[in-house]
Amino acid sequence: MVERYVMSVDQGTTSTRCILFDHAGRLVSVTQREHKQHFPKPGWVEHDAMEIWRNLERIAPEAVAQAGCSPDQVAALGIANQRETTVLWDRHTGRPIGHAIVWQDTRTDRLVDELAGHPQAEIVRERSGLPLATYFSAPRIRWMLDNRPGLRERAERGDVIFGTMESWLIWNLTGGPNGGLHVTDVTNASRTLLMDLTTLDWDDGLLTFFGVPRAMLPRIRPSTETYGPAKRVLPGVRIAAALGDQQAALFGQTCFAPGEAKCTYGTGAFLLLNTGTEPVQSTHGLLTTVGYQIGSEPAVYALEGSIAITGALVQWFRDGLGIISSAPEIETLARTVDDNGGCYIVPAFSGLFTPYWRSEARGIIVGLTSYITKGHLARAVLEATGWQTREVVDAMNADSGLALKALKVDGGMTADNLLMQFIADVLNVPVIRPMAAETVSLGAAYAAGLAVGYWPDLEGLRRNWHRAAQWLPAMDPVRRTVEYDNWHRAVERTFDWIKP
Ligand code: G3P
Repeated sequence: MVERYVMSVDQGTTSTRCILFDHAGRLVSVTQREHKQHFPKPGWVEHDAMEIWRNLERIAPEAVAQAGCSPDQVAALGIANQRETTVLWDRHTGRPIGHAIVWQDTRTDRLVDELAGHPQAEIVRERSGLPLATYFSAPRIRWMLDNRPGLRERAERGDVIFGTMESWLIWNLTGGPNGGLHVTDVTNASRTLLMDLTTLDWDDGLLTFFGVPRAMLPRIRPSTETYGPAKRVLPGVRIAAALGDQQAALFGQTCFAPGEAKCTYGTGAFLLLNTGTEPVQSTHGLLTTVGYQIGSEPAVYALEGSIAITGALVQWFRDGLGIISSAPEIETLARTVDDNGGCYIVPAFSGLFTPYWRSEARGIIVGLTSYITKGHLARAVLEATGWQTREVVDAMNADSGLALKALKVDGGMTADNLLMQFIADVLNVPVIRPMAAETVSLGAAYAAGLAVGYWPDLEGLRRNWHRAAQWLPAMDPVRRTVEYDNWHRAVERTFDWIKP
């Protein structure tokens, strides 16, 4: 049987998507299903891991059928996933322990504050490359173990186990009802706060610091490796790659050389710069993370600027406020006015990430007068993504000592021309979008295809990259400076809103 396609699963924050790609990296079929967002309290965000698994069970065979092929014509499966979201489940029954706690959730802010005061706290950044923040998995695991009677003992015995979404899906795909392989990939492990960036293994000092038992953790594997065949849903299909979704986009944008960077605009936005085979520590609020590891080759590292809320602000504008009825309408509404009318929105819904790492920050709208219309608010929503990108690029330039010359972008929000122009304007560099819009999925497919020899090497993948659009900066420099200063003054006001 000729293996015609490679399949990817993109398990994202709001939906799960399956795509089949052909040899040229062209999309052959796509299926997608949203899952419910649970917001039980302010600052809490949860997902039902079982719902996500059932969605995959349904849409994966549909994607294969839509492509007119059978599972034995799928050369390999690669998984990309929302990172840091924490799932605990019972090894014997396969049932999740409560809901998964999502990367945006800030319920661990007190715990993180307490841990920050610990004499050992400096080992966290030194070893994991990450700041101590609510964003990552370890404080969530600790919170779950502390808040459910008897759970810690079960975790110590290895009866209750942990994984991020790729781990949960691989466990389900490779086993019967009682599960299969308990593995994670090195990029996802690098987001837990528990892995040593140089040994690429769980670190005993970090495990003790966070109070997480080793027995509950998956085995860390390279991003590109044949983990095993699927036993359920796509029987026989080799699962040959897993990467955090942002690392998958780095791969899909073919940023294989040190100095190459991309920014993906989804629920949040994440700018990753390939820094080669040595981890580079940031002094400007960026994360040091694993970009990818191909088989037994040395890991490739990245510096990352993380923005928690970009597309999620548009979603809130649509669902929370009801001002628009579909996300693309925001551009039309924003074009009804020439500027923001003096209004700024800082969407610190999950605190602020890069470069601030302030989990206590809360969102604000400033500059309201009766002149402000919904058009101005729509502009302020889009501009928030532009200014947050500028802060990340400033941090990246300061850390690397080099000025970014152009920004490669991807993700759903790149369909918004007004926003892309604004980003080029505030960064004062060209913004470039490739033909392949689904870079996260493409990256996971590339990684899986490489593992099984469907694609021979990285150079072959590079040849599939083609530019689709470019935006050139056009903003008056004085206006840029004044408005960036306004943005910063708005940001300052998010920090002291909640009194301790
Ligand atoms: O770190 C969080 C990130 O992986 C989420 O990405 O695209 O699912 O919002 P996305």
